[in-house]
Amino acid sequence: MKHFIYYSASGTTSGKAISDGNLMKAGRIDIAIHSLIQGLFLSHDFRKDVTFHLILNGMPDPPKHIEILVNDDTPISKKDVATIMKKLLYKYKPGEKKEVFPGCFVEKKSVMRVIDELMAKDVEIFMLDKKGESLRDIEIPDECAFLLGDHEGFPKKEEKYLRKILTPVTVGPHIYFASQVVAVVNNELDVRGI
Ligand SMILES: C[S@@+](CC[C@H](N)C(=O)[O-])C[C@H]1O[C@@H](n2cnc3c(N)ncnc32)[C@H](O)[C@@H]1O
Repeated sequence: MKHFIYYSASGTTSGKAISDGNLMKAGRIDIAIHSLIQGLFLSHDFRKDVTFHLILNGMPDPPKHIEILVNDDTPISKKDVATIMKKLLYKYKPGEKKEVFPGCFVEKKSVMRVIDELMAKDVEIFMLDKKGESLRDIEIPDECAFLLGDHEGFPKKEEKYLRKILTPVTVGPHIYFASQVVAVVNNELDVRGI
């Protein structure tokens, strides 16, 4: 299984903020959606071997961990990812990891705990960062995860710690949109047959 972990310091944790329709004002949920589309969607198909984790740390009730692993029954379409996210946030139940739709879960969990749990399952986690080893030069196991930030990146303290415990990996010499980085990583994994 391959994983993307998208961390957003300001992404809203309110379903209502998403239903109000201005995704840019909802802590740039538009960027989260673009990244998720690049992570999970193909033309006329889905990547069913990729789990996409969204960690939303914005108000009013952070942190929220939305996890999506598309299966044949997942009611997801590129046109209304926002609706799925809105419903997941509305249906959140304290104290549980709730499967709101097949393959779509919501729970209260921090990015550090998501990372710890994947590491405990022997998933190797790479931190996507302009300053890192080249994606083309690293060994990537089948059980891998890629952590990336939104337009604000990571809070400085967490970034320093994450750079120590994870392998920083760059996809090129520019600062790219989060969604562009996800597309590049998926392409590298495709080319390598991972
Ligand atoms: C738009 S960038 C964030 C820009 C933010 N101002 C910063 O300096 O971190 C969104 C995310 O894409 C990833 N990213 C951007 N450029 C990258 C690169 N050249 N290599 C690897 N990851 C990159 C990083 O994870 C970053 O947090």
